[in-house]
Amino acid sequence: MNEKHFSQSILEWFDVHGRKNLPWQINKTPYRVWVSEIMLQQTQVTTVIGYYNRFMDQFKSLEELAKADEDDVLGYWAGLGYYARARNLHKTAKLIVSEYDGEFPSTLDEIESLPGIGRSTAGAILSLSLNQRAPILDGNVKRVLARFHAIEGWTGHPSIAKELWYWAERYTPKTRFSDYTQAMMDLGATLCTRSKPNCPQCPINSTCRAYNEDRTNTIPTPKPK
Ligand code: ADE
Repeated sequence: MNEKHFSQSILEWFDVHGRKNLPWQINKTPYRVWVSEIMLQQTQVTTVIGYYNRFMDQFKSLEELAKADEDDVLGYWAGLGYYARARNLHKTAKLIVSEYDGEFPSTLDEIESLPGIGRSTAGAILSLSLNQRAPILDGNVKRVLARFHAIEGWTGHPSIAKELWYWAERYTPKTRFSDYTQAMMDLGATLCTRSKPNCPQCPINSTCRAYNEDRTNTIPTPKPK
């Protein structure tokens, strides 16, 4: 399967089965997508939805978040855990106001240099909100690609991550960047799950090495103890 066939299969599957009505998929702006991605880093979609809607009702724009009291921001985060995320969010909103005149930056390098935003989250913000061509490699996508190519070794190891980034970059299509990013996240979250993946329904199962070699239960390799 070449890269064009890969992304086409993923996008056709997304058109039928992908998630298209999550709150952060409506009125997609860098600010709204950024907040959702930070909340989703350690918390499941079903839990995030309520928190996200309340947070966005309160802090409708980056400026409003920047000028809020930290205690108020933390109050809207209460229950989500990992409170450093909320402090970073607030700090970053203030930084964007002071350094970027309140305009969310629009290049990968700038976004990646913001506190609390790594390469994958930066790619997600750019592709999902601005439909720019930027690959992502979050936990879901790592699992999909590691299985598809039967890549052994802990996906957090730098050499493995490098190989996975190579494939992530190569499979990113020439159009529909936002849909493709969401599709890869959805595939990893709904079919290519850590345990009991639903391989028979997968759009790329015919050339997935882990599936065809019956190795989905050993790939990806767990983190070494
Ligand atoms: N997890 C991380 N980002 C997500 C998104 N945009 N939609 C659903 N789950 C996600």
